[in-house]
Formats: sequence, C-alpha cells, structure tokens
Amino acid sequence: MTKSEQIQQQFKELQITPTQSLQGTYQTPSDKSISHRALIFGAIAKGQTVINRLLPAADVLRTKTALQQLGVKITTTGEQTTVEGQGGFKFKQPQQPLNLGNSGTTTRLFLGLLAKQAFPITLVGDASLSQRPMARVVTPLQAVGMKVNYLNEFDQLPLTILPNQHLQALNYQMPIASAQLKSALILAALQADQPSKIGQLAESRNHTELMLTQFGGNINEKQRCLQIQPLIQPLIGQTLTVPGDPSTAAFLITAALLLPNSRLTVTNHSLNPTRTGFLQLLEAQHAPLTYLNKTTAGEPSADIQIKTLITPLKAFTINQKNLGRLIDEIPIISLLATQVVGTTVIRDAHELRYKETDRLHVIATELTKFGATITELPDGLQITGPTQLKRPSVPLDAHQDHRIAMMLVVAELLIGEKLPIAGIESIAISNPTFIKDLISLLKDENK
Ligand code: S3P
Repeated sequence: MTKSEQIQQQFKELQITPTQSLQGTYQTPSDKSISHRALIFGAIAKGQTVINRLLPAADVLRTKTALQQLGVKITTTGEQTTVEGQGGFKFKQPQQPLNLGNSGTTTRLFLGLLAKQAFPITLVGDASLSQRPMARVVTPLQAVGMKVNYLNEFDQLPLTILPNQHLQALNYQMPIASAQLKSALILAALQADQPSKIGQLAESRNHTELMLTQFGGNINEKQRCLQIQPLIQPLIGQTLTVPGDPSTAAFLITAALLLPNSRLTVTNHSLNPTRTGFLQLLEAQHAPLTYLNKTTAGEPSADIQIKTLITPLKAFTINQKNLGRLIDEIPIISLLATQVVGTTVIRDAHELRYKETDRLHVIATELTKFGATITELPDGLQITGPTQLKRPSVPLDAHQDHRIAMMLVVAELLIGEKLPIAGIESIAISNPTFIKDLISLLKDENK
C-alpha cells in the first residue's frame, strides 16, 4: 500500500462522533523545516551528522532522495538518520532531474545550495510546486553569478541550474519576509568570494541561522540585517534531535481547546520564538496551557498540557508584527477564529496565496461550506465568531494541501461527523501519522 492509500484507509477507520474529546499524550511529529535543514547541513559538513527523529514525511523524503542523487550517503535506522558529509559543496552530477514533489522548501533551499556547481542540475516538481514562484530566489542569485534556464514558464519549475564556477557576495534587501528565500541566500553566501549582507523585511523562522552557527559557520544579525562569512573551512558534522513541529501541533492543540472535556499533552513542542506566534495568541488570553520539561539548549522545546477552554477566546489580530511566527498556522487559526467572540482580522498575508494552494481563497471557500462568516481580503481574511458550524451540503476539498486537509478534519471533529475530504492523502506531505494519532487520542465516554 502506498502512503497515500494508507492515509485513505486510516481516514476510513477514523470514527467521529458528537461527544468525543481528546485524551492522552501526543508526541508531536518532528519539525519539517528543521528536518530539511539538518539533511542539507549534514550533506555539506565534514564528517558524520546524526539526526535523531528526522520527520519521515513526503517533503523531507524529497530532500533526502535528492541529496542521495547528488552523491550524498544518507542512511536511516529506526529514529536515527546518518548523513556522510561531503566536507563542502562537493556534489556529483545527478543522472536524472531532481524530482522535488510538492516541497517548496526543498526547491528554494536547493537553488541556493546548488548555485555553484560544475554541471547542470534540473529541478522538477508536481503540479502545485510547478506553479509556485521561484524568481524570488533565482533573480537575486542570478545577480551574483548563478545561471538558470527556465524550461517552461519564467519564474516556475521545471528549471535547470547551469554550470557556474563563481558567486559574488550578496548585498540584498529582501522584498518579502520569507525563511525559504533567506535560507537559499544564506546557502549561496557561504559559497561567495566575499562576506554577504541580507536585509530582512520582517521576522521569519531562524532555523538556518541557528543550525549554521551550530555547525561552526559565521553569521550575525544586526537590526534585521544578516552578515554571512563565506566558508573558509568546512562546517563540522553534528548530532542533533529534531524538536516537534509547532505548525503540526497546532491542529490538535486547537481540537483539544474546543472539544469538551479534553486533556491533551503534546510533548517535545518547539519553543523557538520565531515559531510560537500561535501559542502567544493563546497565552495573551490565558488559555488553559501548562508548560512542562522546558529545555533551552539549541532549539528550545517543552511539553504542553492543554485543557478545554472554559470561556471562549476573543478575536485575534494578525498582521506583519506576528505573521512570520505563525504563517503555517493560518488555516487552523482561521477555523479557531470561527469559534471565538468577535471579528478576527488577518492582514499582510498576501504570501499565503503562494503556498501549496492559494490558502486565503481555499480557507475561505472550505470554511464557508461549514457556515462560517468569513470574507477573503486581498491580503488576508476577516472571520466573525462564534458560529455554530453546520454540516456542509457540498463536498469538501483539501485541494491537495496538507494543512487544509488537517483543518478540514478538525472542522469535522467540531461538527461531530465524518464526511469525505477530497485530497485527504496530502496529509502525508507533513504529517503521515495524523489520522492514526487522532484515532488513538479520540475518546467517547458515551460509547
Ligand atoms: C518554511 C518557510 C515558510 C513556511 C514553509 C516552510 C521553511 O515559507 O511557510 O512551510 O522551512 O523555511 P516562506 O519562507 O516562503 O514564508
């Protein structure tokens, strides 16, 4: 059975009733962003990198397989993945185009990683990835020497990175707040002939900066400007453990807050401040969360106990000030916003139109089917609650977007009834155990 078929089968087995709650301990699946980066830094470092709990999801597998095609030896035994570092950007010419599937992070980061190779490398992706913008990364890299040939449409995959021997330093002000763009530029800056400067428009996740420092690189940040020294010596392989992904945990945290009588503990949840925007929204309103076993080394993490809300939350305000810290949580926050008192306004979120789907449009379309009061804005959403969600009368569609699929499953928990969701299998992109975990955590006292 393929992963997709497994998920469809598990979804068939999932029972949703109107009197269920979430009970028990949820080991948050590992962070997707950190998993990609651990493989990439492991590949260019000298010596072995041992990664504990690499996320075994489709997107991360794309990074792993593509690095293997580039000659990097990577093996996984149980929860441990070992990368044999190349001691630099010393890759082999791949025999086939690198198929990056649905993974925007792999594609953007690889554009920086592979900007200076002696041979051509073709990147291809699935239908969704082939419509996502790439010029945001390619154009600033072309300005410092990278050569790219778009094979189809300007700005999109498929494309070929052409042979190139030289990268100049970057001196670039990013026009958008994007960790993928920032990370691609950092990976290129490590290969440049002089130190680079990259100005950031707003905060975005900083896993690349943290990991580069951990592997022995030299990067500083002053007033949102990053200064990166090119590598004189190779980075050094490390041993690391990937913490739980806040963007994944948010789905079950929301379900636990809303399903009566729930008591859920999510373990090993990342507390990296560039990722805790959702928790901050909840904490600001004293939601029933308790933090246990906090760790501070490297990427900070904690276990979090969640109990059902006794009084409903009030509406949220999301804009450029906090968007970067919760960008991937917008689908589930939008669903939560239908249950809070007042009008939640999400602004400055135009970037969501360039995710796996046009998320602003798809969130509004799908939540409207449940009777939500939701309006699409050019750069955001306006959602008024609380609304008693109702059974949709038209079919639900995740549009092959994993985070929309999980939002729809949580919406079904709220109405207490399971309905078919087209594209449910896309959950494998980031969270292949989502349905299985739900099945073991959902309890119904009346049964
Ligand atoms: C990611 C950065 C974010 C996020 C994506 C993962 C990363 O995208 O939405 O899921 O790992 O760098 P942008 O950097 O394009 O905002």
